[in-house]
Amino acid sequence: MRVLSGIQPSGRLHIGNYFGAMRQHLQLQAENDGFYFIADYHAMTSGPKPDDLRKCKFAVAMDYLALGLDTNKTVFWCQSDVPEVTELCWILSCITPMGLLQRCVSYKDKIAQGLSANHGLFAYPVLQAADILIFDSNLVPVGADQKQHIEVTRDIADYFNNIYGETFVLPKDYIIDSVAVVPGIDGRKMSKSYDNTIEIFEPETSVKKKVMRMVTDSTPVEQPKDPDKCNIFALLKLVASESEIKEWENKYRNGGMGYGDAKKRLVELLLEYFRPYRQKRAELEQNTDYVRKVLADGAERARTVAKKTLTRARKAVGLE
Ligand code: ADP
Ligand code: TRP
Repeated sequence: MRVLSGIQPSGRLHIGNYFGAMRQHLQLQAENDGFYFIADYHAMTSGPKPDDLRKCKFAVAMDYLALGLDTNKTVFWCQSDVPEVTELCWILSCITPMGLLQRCVSYKDKIAQGLSANHGLFAYPVLQAADILIFDSNLVPVGADQKQHIEVTRDIADYFNNIYGETFVLPKDYIIDSVAVVPGIDGRKMSKSYDNTIEIFEPETSVKKKVMRMVTDSTPVEQPKDPDKCNIFALLKLVASESEIKEWENKYRNGGMGYGDAKKRLVELLLEYFRPYRQKRAELEQNTDYVRKVLADGAERARTVAKKTLTRARKAVGLE
């Protein structure tokens, strides 16, 4: 089964991205034909500074490789190194009804967040459809926020197949729900846009500072606490063993436990969890030529597939 997903290089990756998306991408590569890419064309829709985009793309590449992306098995590349996708995006644009895009909530959300209403932002789902369809993807693992984009992709593929004959595979979404939303240090959803993240690879001292600053309620030490309402416990659940999670749950409910103790343990566990990856990340930083080569090889493998699908689409519409 071909599994494809992309992640935007729009900031440093955080543990919400890891537990909410990347970990599942990495698990799925074992049993599937994995196609993963860094969605830099998509990141342009929010107007990043050129140097930030450049640095961020490379950081995301190193993060994925450090966390266990296996390039012997999985094709891994940077979206803009496969420009065929933008040609397919144009072809798809010409059959995409405006109404379909006007209904997309992510566009409305981004405008509400203060992004300027550029055409790229509006056409974002068509580019995403091109990403998915050009690789004949069967399964697209994404967070629930992306479900509508996969539905739009299916609609576009369906319109196209109806007008021009069977050309595209209709993908299925695979909504990653094994982890509920990971909270940030202020208790809201962890997100680059809220400035409340713990980055996967930020310095250990900074992880410690952020955890110790995490917002909690003011229940006194001796009183029982509700673990399900606590963002420290939500993060503990991601990194502690089953038995330790149970222990903390009891400590919360029985009273006599201060949030400071839970924070200290959370720091230890987070650092322990990511330590082997941190080591690998440091090695990659010393070997940037290797990372560039991996991306170049990935782009070449991805282009071979993309070119075939694009030719099929060009023939179907009469460009060839
Ligand atoms: P951000 O909100 O930081 O900009 P993105 O929207 O780029 O993150 O998210 C990339 C992927 O990571 C998506 O699949 C999204 O569902 C997942 N993700 C992001 N933040 C969280 C979170 N706090 N909890 C769970 N998953 C998350
Ligand atoms: N829009 C996705 C996100 O913000 C990233 C993305 C771009 C993507 N193209 C894709 C995800 C294709 C899955 C498939 O998370």
